[in-house]
Amino acid sequence: MIANSADIQGASAASDTNPPVLRVLTGITTSGTPHLGNYVGAIRPTVQASRAPGTESFLFLADYHALVKTGGDPARVQRSTLEIAASWLASGLDPERTFFYRQSDIPEIPELTWMLTCVTGKGLLNRAHAYKAATDKNTAAGLDTDADVTGGLYMYPVLMAADILVFHAHKVPVGRDQVQHIEMARDMAASFNHLHGQGRALLTLPEAVIDEQVAVLPGLDGRKMSKSYDNTIALFGPREQLRKQIAGLVTDSRAPGEPKATEGSALFQIYQAFASADETAALAKAFAEGISWADAKAALFERIDREIAPMRDTYNAFTAEPQRVEAILQRGAERARVRSSALLRELRHAVGLRALGTVADASRKAAPKAAKPSFKQYRESDGQFYFKLVDASGAVLLQSRAFAAPRDAAQAIGQLSQKSSTALVELGAQLEPGFDTQAVGQALDLLQNK
Ligand code: TRP
Repeated sequence: MIANSADIQGASAASDTNPPVLRVLTGITTSGTPHLGNYVGAIRPTVQASRAPGTESFLFLADYHALVKTGGDPARVQRSTLEIAASWLASGLDPERTFFYRQSDIPEIPELTWMLTCVTGKGLLNRAHAYKAATDKNTAAGLDTDADVTGGLYMYPVLMAADILVFHAHKVPVGRDQVQHIEMARDMAASFNHLHGQGRALLTLPEAVIDEQVAVLPGLDGRKMSKSYDNTIALFGPREQLRKQIAGLVTDSRAPGEPKATEGSALFQIYQAFASADETAALAKAFAEGISWADAKAALFERIDREIAPMRDTYNAFTAEPQRVEAILQRGAERARVRSSALLRELRHAVGLRALGTVADASRKAAPKAAKPSFKQYRESDGQFYFKLVDASGAVLLQSRAFAAPRDAAQAIGQLSQKSSTALVELGAQLEPGFDTQAVGQALDLLQNK
């Protein structure tokens, strides 16, 4: 199910009457260095949303997920973790007002991953887009279907579901490419609840949120800014690097003095993502009046740098002192684990991973009504009266013969329910043959609380 970002705002607006806490969660894979596209598309809106009253924000560094893509490059995972954490902190994320942590500091996540694995159909995982793309590519190339496909790629959606479900997240802001993963997390939560919940929702079903308003930022070549196109502008690189990268933006060949189109201009779109409406209108006017590309690039650089410069200083301070970032992440994990460890305690019990000798507590509490067999009296279409003895699951243990009147049937039930299992035979005349004497005997004992 897909919601849009207005839902997040809507739910928080409703918070002045009986605040419903809305949990918003998102993860960032630690396999690269943040660029301007990440800032405009994810960091800036998420930091802003994390300040909304009535919401709890969970933001984490998905370093287990990074292993799927960066196997064999440990230094890169570590460096990326530092850079991403420092970027979010420098961009105004308040680690005390949010839950900001590293995935691998939450041991309940891999633990839940296994529990979810055991309720997830292999067929569901076969249909995951990333896995299918890999196998389709292999097939097209005439290779073995699963050539170079790791179990990590295959299990990626389960790990992601555990990230989300372990904190009972309601909303997960993601890009379109991740929507299927959220749908799969819903499926896993529903299966788990069905199998282990005894009517209770042990896990919360999450929803994907796609922000239609946040523009996709174009990169240096005009295509979407993305690491995989190698067209990115670094977020917190040195100031001169920013100037140089912006100088490399593709433009058309219109000379100074010639009017320029804002439509389809990557430069204009990037400017718009940072500027106010008035500033954007002023640049549009300058375009119409024939501003040179060199001047337009200078204007773009100044505008971005004005927003970024103070944060860049904070970023540099954080990356110069990794142990400060580490301490913040440790504290975040400690706060988050209060939640995750409480959930896993509950889930372990629900699935049967229990300390020996404690089985009684929850199962007996939930069970007494359900676990008892019972007599059911009824009238058939032949006009006669009958009863049957059914066990807790509704299975028929015993079927009576016909009685002319309801009170005769009731009397037989009365007699039968007093009998011990050994005396059953005496009542044979009232019962259909062929019942399981032992099962009926046990049911009677249960009814008499023996
Ligand atoms: N798979 C996500 C991505 O590539 C990152 C991620 C991992 C994530 N776990 C998550 C996002 C949980 C949202 C919720 O972008």
